[in-house]
Amino acid sequence: MDPVSLAGLAIGVASIGLQVYSGCIQGIQLVITALNFPDDARYLNLRLRMEQQRLFAWSEASGLLDLDAKRRDKVLESNTFVLHRQTVLDLLVQVECLFKEFKEHQEKRKCLRAVPDQDQVLENPEKDAAEANFPLPKRRRDFIKKAMRSLKESSHEASQRLQWVAFDKAAFELLLSRFSTLNDNMTGILDQRMQVEIHHTVQDTNRGVLQLHHKISDLSRLVMALNIRLEASSALPTAQLTVAKKQANADGLELISQLAKFKAFNESIESAHKRPLDEATANQLELGKPGEKRLLLDRSMIELDPAADESDQPRCEAVLVKDGVKKKVWVEWKEYDPQRPGDSSPPKAVIVERVAKLAALLNHTPKPEDFRTPHCLGYFDRGSSNGQEDEDEDILNMRLGLVFERPVDSGLDQSSPPVSLHELLETTRKPPVTKRVKLAHAISKCLLYLHAVNWLHKGLRSHNIIFFKTTSGDVDFGKPYLSGFDFSRPARADEMTDIPGPGDDIEYNLYRHPNAQSTNPDERERFKKSFDIYSLGVLLVEIAHWATVDKVLGINLNVARGRPSFALKVRDSLLATDQIAELGACMGELYEGATQKCIAGGEQLGLSEKDDETNDAVAARLSMVLHEKVVKKLGEIQV
Ligand SMILES: *[C@@H]1O[C@H](CO)[C@@H](O)[C@H](O)[C@H]1NC(C)=O
Ligand SMILES: *[C@@H]1O[C@H](CO)[C@@H](O)[C@H](O)[C@H]1NC(C)=O
Repeated sequence: MDPVSLAGLAIGVASIGLQVYSGCIQGIQLVITALNFPDDARYLNLRLRMEQQRLFAWSEASGLLDLDAKRRDKVLESNTFVLHRQTVLDLLVQVECLFKEFKEHQEKRKCLRAVPDQDQVLENPEKDAAEANFPLPKRRRDFIKKAMRSLKESSHEASQRLQWVAFDKAAFELLLSRFSTLNDNMTGILDQRMQVEIHHTVQDTNRGVLQLHHKISDLSRLVMALNIRLEASSALPTAQLTVAKKQANADGLELISQLAKFKAFNESIESAHKRPLDEATANQLELGKPGEKRLLLDRSMIELDPAADESDQPRCEAVLVKDGVKKKVWVEWKEYDPQRPGDSSPPKAVIVERVAKLAALLNHTPKPEDFRTPHCLGYFDRGSSNGQEDEDEDILNMRLGLVFERPVDSGLDQSSPPVSLHELLETTRKPPVTKRVKLAHAISKCLLYLHAVNWLHKGLRSHNIIFFKTTSGDVDFGKPYLSGFDFSRPARADEMTDIPGPGDDIEYNLYRHPNAQSTNPDERERFKKSFDIYSLGVLLVEIAHWATVDKVLGINLNVARGRPSFALKVRDSLLATDQIAELGACMGELYEGATQKCIAGGEQLGLSEKDDETNDAVAARLSMVLHEKVVKKLGEIQV
């Protein structure tokens, strides 16, 4: 066929496809919004929403949805609508019939009935999505609106809302599993590039869903909804099962499920004093029993190397003696302030509480792999011996130590201490671009997932990215560990606000956003995600040049010490045209763009002046942008 008629064919097929697709969305939406959904089966409804979003992701990647906006280029570019025209239409018709038949069958059995749509939910999908804590991007919302309006125009009867009289769980599960298989098939016919795009979009949606789920009961429902696909029913024939597993993997469902469990765990420590959880939920979320673990270790269990102990390094090697067994560990220090007589709220108690919480988070399993946080075994008070507080105010004693296990990996050298990225930048030769890109990608991914559960790092800098050497003395740049988590510290007893951590000198401020630097608490903004993203940007600069930021900018630390203005100027210097262009020159445009966005922040991250980053909708958007403009871009770099 000549190109002109090929194009005509593609558009023709896609136009028919779009009509059928509209019918699919109508049918699905009617089932999703059905009233009287039993509470204990709401996870099935959540799953159906996720499958509907998967279908949306397909229509976006294939270009079908663009056709609705009179844009034809995507349809013309992909050969889906010519090469696979039969299959595409066949599958879409199958989806449409699946929901039509389900509705008819359930109505005949008097399980479902039509009722007037009093709240106008059908035409306002955003209301219903908000109630279900489900994100609905504008484009998809508008499409649903339009489809439901046209359904209303076509017939009054067809556009009534459904209501469950008796919920048929088995039939609903079958509907879900068939729909899921058809979705897998639809993805399967697209070419590799579009499949990857679909998986990225689905991951975005699912992170958004996670963002909107807060309560333990909601998170538990989310985990159940994810499990439906993760534990793809063994009833499936092998070939189909393999496909389903592969797709679920590519959608990153396991990770979202782990993140949901982690979020629930954090929620459970926050609300430990409130009503206890029922056992089924706790088991399902793998929360463990409250108070089951004692993380406060006795000082006598830790043997510190005297030389390392006297130094002011933030971490040191040590030996943990437990039940007579010695284990090599490493310790990370958190200082607290001296207490003065008359202090109403003792800083130490507050710090201890926060360290305890941090230890619990870092100790929890299962831990999402992409967090790349080391496993914490507990914490101890440097200043206490045998439960007695030492009277002397030795500054070395005023520290709490978080005890970490070395990663269990046979390829690692068990004797060499962890080495920080900062040390590597100063002492090793610049690794090849591929390795540096891999490192940048790994760190950005960590931050994306930490932020997905609202975990702010607050101390991102190359001192806190650590590696364990392999037996051959190398470092695997794809496996950095993120340490040095910081938390809000009470400044002085009379002003309970955050102050930057100890060792708060110029060196650390170089990595902090200018608005996070002031030592005056009144002037400093509350720490927020975009400050972490800024610090990530500084790390990306260091990794590109393979030099610490002071060297990159030619700042003499000895001159700059005690002069806050030096650190305040870092952001502007990094954003200077020449600096940015330099990044492009050594790492390419994708890297340059990603770094520039992190450092510039604001509009570049899709944030406006008045946006509150703790707001769910804003947080979901920020996460999407961080993924789209930074993590994904760094992952796409081909060298
Ligand atoms: C969908 O894929 C399954 C295997 O995963 C296959 O058995 C089935 O025939 C496919 N359906 C269509 C309509 O292609
Ligand atoms: C834990 O929960 C609290 C309260 O909901 C939230 O502010 C915090 O960001 C969460 N932290 C983590 C690490 O998830």
